[in-house]
Amino acid sequence: MIRGPDGRFKSVSWRDALAVVAEVAHKVEPEEIVGIAGKLSDAESMIALKDFVNKMGSNNVWCEGIGENTSAYLRLGYIMNTSIAGLENADVFLLVGTQPRVEAAMVNARIRKTVRATQAKVGYIGPATDFNYDHQHLGTGPQTLLEIAEGHHPFSKTISNAKNPVIIVGAGIFERKDQDAIFAAIETIAKQGKVVRPDWNGLDVLLLHAAQAAALDLGLVPQSEKSLESAKFIYLMGADDINLDKIQADSFVVYQGHHGDKSVYRANIILPAAAFSEKEGTYENTEGCTQQTLPAVPTVIIRALSEVSGIDLPYDSVGAVRARIKIGSSEKNYPGKLTFRVFITCVTAAFGGLIFGYDLGISGGVTSMDPFLKKFFPDVYAKEHNIKPTDNQYCKFDSQVLTLFTSSLYLAALVASIFASKVTRAFGRRLTMISGGVLFLAGAALNGFAQQVWMLIVGRMLLGFGIGCANQSVPIYVSEVAPYKYRGALNMLFQLAITIGIFVANILNYLFAKMENGEGWRYSLGLAGVPAIMIIIGAMFLPDSPNSLIERGQAEKAKKELIKIRGTNDVDEEFKDLVAASEASKQVKHPWSSLFKSEYRPHLTMAIAIPFFQQLTGMNVITFYAPVLFKTIGFGGTASLMSAMITGGCNALATLVSIFTVDKVGRRKLFLEGGAQMFICQLVIAAAIGSKFGTDGNPGVLPKWFASTVVVFICIYVAGFAWSWGPLGWLVPSEIFPLEVRSAAQSVNVSVNMIFTFAIAQVFTAMLCHMKFGLFIFFAFFVIVMSIFIHKFLPETKGVPIEEISLVWENHPYWNKFVKSSAQKNKIAAPDSQV
Ligand code: BGC
Repeated sequence: MIRGPDGRFKSVSWRDALAVVAEVAHKVEPEEIVGIAGKLSDAESMIALKDFVNKMGSNNVWCEGIGENTSAYLRLGYIMNTSIAGLENADVFLLVGTQPRVEAAMVNARIRKTVRATQAKVGYIGPATDFNYDHQHLGTGPQTLLEIAEGHHPFSKTISNAKNPVIIVGAGIFERKDQDAIFAAIETIAKQGKVVRPDWNGLDVLLLHAAQAAALDLGLVPQSEKSLESAKFIYLMGADDINLDKIQADSFVVYQGHHGDKSVYRANIILPAAAFSEKEGTYENTEGCTQQTLPAVPTVIIRALSEVSGIDLPYDSVGAVRARIKIGSSEKNYPGKLTFRVFITCVTAAFGGLIFGYDLGISGGVTSMDPFLKKFFPDVYAKEHNIKPTDNQYCKFDSQVLTLFTSSLYLAALVASIFASKVTRAFGRRLTMISGGVLFLAGAALNGFAQQVWMLIVGRMLLGFGIGCANQSVPIYVSEVAPYKYRGALNMLFQLAITIGIFVANILNYLFAKMENGEGWRYSLGLAGVPAIMIIIGAMFLPDSPNSLIERGQAEKAKKELIKIRGTNDVDEEFKDLVAASEASKQVKHPWSSLFKSEYRPHLTMAIAIPFFQQLTGMNVITFYAPVLFKTIGFGGTASLMSAMITGGCNALATLVSIFTVDKVGRRKLFLEGGAQMFICQLVIAAAIGSKFGTDGNPGVLPKWFASTVVVFICIYVAGFAWSWGPLGWLVPSEIFPLEVRSAAQSVNVSVNMIFTFAIAQVFTAMLCHMKFGLFIFFAFFVIVMSIFIHKFLPETKGVPIEEISLVWENHPYWNKFVKSSAQKNKIAAPDSQV
């Protein structure tokens, strides 16, 4: 029925009525749209209303009886955790703002039975009321609650002495302005009285209405009650108890309902609907247990309206709506697009990789420049130039001081990454990135202006601290912000940035080596400041990741951020999971020692094995020392730098391959294919060098095929690394750790990576001198070992949302005996299904 200009209702067809509703909804601004579900709504109708309002661009949708900003994040916070039947195990009840006798007969019956059978004590805070069992009326308001919390009230003792205390909080508190203070006092009492323990959860909320539990689960919570006052289009879905005085005179009100209650008199359009007793719908009781009713057609009206409005709600049947809210299923499918914000965020964050890459690539070239060697390492310079063609070529750069110049940085990075984990957890990923950039800038300046060796070394150490910070925070940041479907590809931008950094360093070394004043090395080292500035500026504009905000207690801000980065209002499910994961992680007070518990054995193993194996591929022999290696095997100075540039280019290009394939073919296949490719190339390179240089390192005249064969196979080898162990060595660790130990485990990962990067950088020239061409066989052996390890122990993580990652361990044939199943972890969260 539609209200005419004379104020009277007249009948219209469904089509006409819906057309009018759609027209008005499209005319108003998105934020002027409000949807309110009534207290008896079923879950299906509520999610349809929420989806409709969200898709119209508004987030103002809630259920009656739920107050502004009620915390709907943690399920434990709004259901009856003890379960109704479980109340019989309690020996003390504290009832806060609830009168079970009038509000919930079943709950009241259980309390009464328990009091009669066991003389359990009941304390009540609220206005005087009738009870049908013994109780103490402790007070009427929050003051009494505070006294109990502070231990000044005799009932504090009663609770502390109880074996199984229960606190039942009335849902009316959700509508009070001081709800936060009340819940804080309740939390203190619960803590002191050990109301929540691994074997007992006595902290309960008694919900008042049939729709409330489902509404909270689905996130129908008002963000601001003011939105009703400024609304121009209001959809009341069976909502009869709202304050109609708040609605503006010119607002358009749609009333969908089944009996002519108050709201009908204010409605502009009435859409008749089935009563709850006539339809097939899902309800949740105060324990959070789902119950279904039959029959009728619940969502049909909003579904039809969505069609007339040109908005596509993707369900035609009750089954499809159920799939949408995933009743009875644990499979996750968070909505969310690859928004421009996410993309830019990840690109900027990946600049952190540029810092790392530039530094990896720059030192080898610089140490092969004569003016640099002459100034800082005259002994090495003399040795290189006095060596005769008939001497052992394998050893011409064998100097521990020279390699210390390269390697010292990774030692500093190792130290920094240990502290960076604390900074990351306390101040967020973003601040850690900014600190990394600042340290790196200082290091670059000191190196560029170096006059003495100490300036070089101190500069390298500052660079190392910067790298430690960036490598700790960037991969985690990107994994958290990326929608899980694109997580792999976006995370690999970090590796792409590393390889671009290396490549740019190779090009600059090639160009600066030609400077006639012999000062080219200063530019090579000093220009490291450019990526440092990029990351500082970039990180200043980055939002903190929602996970990190939640971890630091800023849930509201986190939700707003999640809405922005996902580009949809429909983030409730993902948000709840993030909050739940964060709550779980707060239980872990000492992430470092927890990491050594057996339930984290798979994670710790991966955090150590993956970076160890990544370095034992031998890739950094090429990254650091390609120019030195090429010079050793007979290339001239310029040819060496040129060849390094070619391999650097291959590295960056091949990384692109993995960006485009990792989320399609998965991590394991790339690891194994890359391993096979590297293994073959290492054998060919060993054979080529061995056949010419033998064991005495004296090649005589080198044939033409030699140089091209070595360069081609090094390129194929580099490509194999670049689409497997390079990017996956950072991606996989960043996505396999649960939040509670994520920062600590990432620290282990970075530290192990740095230890072995340091080791390879430090001993390479000595290894080459002693192991000769056998060096490549040594690395080939490890490639076989690591491939077997991946095959047997690494589960596939492609397409698994980061908060669901524990499932891959639970389902793994080897690791499942270590990890705790989700059911075990949620022992307290899952109430007995008593109805
Ligand atoms: C590794 C570095 C390596 C680089 C080469 C990174 O993933 O951690 O050690 O130098 O890849 O591209």
